[in-house]
Amino acid sequence: MSASRPLFKSGVAAAVALGMSLAAVPAAPAFAQIGAKNPITVSHIGVGATATEMSFSWRTTYRGEEYVKFHPRGGVKEERREAAQEANFGAIAYRTNHATITGLKPDTEYTYQIGSNEGGWSEPASFRTQGAGSSWKFVALSDAELGVGLRVKEQAEAWRTAVKQATAKAPDAQFILHAGDQIAAGGDPISRWAAFFSPEQLRSYPLALAKGEQESRLTVERHFKEHVNFPNQEDGSANYYFERNNALFIVLDSTQNDAAAIARHARFVRQTAAAHGAGKDWIIAVMHHSPYTHGEFGIKSPEAKRLREGLAPAFSEAGVNLVMGGHEHMYNRSRLMNGTEPVGTDTPAKSGDVLRPKDGEVLYLTTTTAGGGRYGDVYETTGAKRTDITDSSQMEGSQFASPAIGVWQQDRTPDYTVVDVKKNTLTVRTFNVADDSLVDEFTLDRSTTNPNVPDATPGEGSSAEGSSGEGSSAGKIVGIVIGVLAGLLGILALLSPLLRDLAERNGIRL
Ligand SMILES: [Fe+2]
Repeated sequence: MSASRPLFKSGVAAAVALGMSLAAVPAAPAFAQIGAKNPITVSHIGVGATATEMSFSWRTTYRGEEYVKFHPRGGVKEERREAAQEANFGAIAYRTNHATITGLKPDTEYTYQIGSNEGGWSEPASFRTQGAGSSWKFVALSDAELGVGLRVKEQAEAWRTAVKQATAKAPDAQFILHAGDQIAAGGDPISRWAAFFSPEQLRSYPLALAKGEQESRLTVERHFKEHVNFPNQEDGSANYYFERNNALFIVLDSTQNDAAAIARHARFVRQTAAAHGAGKDWIIAVMHHSPYTHGEFGIKSPEAKRLREGLAPAFSEAGVNLVMGGHEHMYNRSRLMNGTEPVGTDTPAKSGDVLRPKDGEVLYLTTTTAGGGRYGDVYETTGAKRTDITDSSQMEGSQFASPAIGVWQQDRTPDYTVVDVKKNTLTVRTFNVADDSLVDEFTLDRSTTNPNVPDATPGEGSSAEGSSGEGSSAGKIVGIVIGVLAGLLGILALLSPLLRDLAERNGIRL
């Protein structure tokens, strides 16, 4: 009774079939043709609270209790099981399961299956946990927004290509951040969500999702709640945080952006940074709506103004270094911002910039759409639309260029971003999916301002391993032990001819 059932493969077709069952066409289960009793239609893994945790979310027609079973690769005897909780938000045609596994070994490959003996198990898949150290990577995308103009198939293909290229560029990425608008509202949300989870890489790379504008709409929000299994969630909201070695991530629901909600977000940022940011080299905030852009939202909307005025000072005070988002469907890199004030505006911004933020200075990054269904227009600060220009160099020196924006580009192709985290540097490279060309690259260098390395020398950043300065003291201890051992070996080497000679004289064969 443990028939293997497919996890993710043909996810779109499976979801379409399940959607049909909702429409009272309950033919055979979607995967009956390959032997599954209760197909798992959509599933992914998600970031846990720390690198030693992993969260899971899946849907199945089986109504009984389900599990994640997992073991280190090659260590079947160490298999463990974690029971899932039902995430019940009113669905009737399927059951959604959430599970979180904890206590994972660092830098270890795990094999896992989801399901149950009664309902059948998924095919095995695997992930690798993050190792210790302050040098690691993650990838970021945004606004796949599958289903714009009902072109789900085409956009799902673009999304799968973007995920494939991002993970090929950074195969050792620790997770995939997607900054909201996973699917477009309208149409059949079940098949659109299945399309979003269809990249096979999502079985092995955990997702960190933000709630987007589309997920705030009625038909999408329920599915979003079913699919996400956030760690450290704030009171049932879509605000949450997680920690990865030397970095703290704070994810906010920017669709809640009236004055009261912004005050709540600011409090969450301050409290989370105070409780979990000490000793971290980097604090990275994520919210779907980017407040600093050259798009329609950033230039014209009152929501962007509220987010800027309400949250930018909180980010600066809390020690946030980078804010990542989307929404505009174009690339934007802000200037370093001290609260709402841009700094360094006398120097033209260009790809390859190495920026040295002082305390309180924050950079805002906006990633364009990964699905390519629609793109935003560029606006001058006057509010005039500029359809004739495609990158910031064409607005350089213009009195109508926003002083808060360093680099923007609108070439109407999807992008992905690779973030290299090191102790004192954060290097952010954004690539064009169409030809893998570099869109923009910048480095935040905190060699002289990182409070965790008071003796850091300028330019250092990649050599120190281990967070919070622990790596350097541990390194000294290891160095001393190695020195002592080397000394003992040297003495043995010197003594060995004498010992051999002494043994032979006494008839002892060594
Ligand atoms: Fe969007």
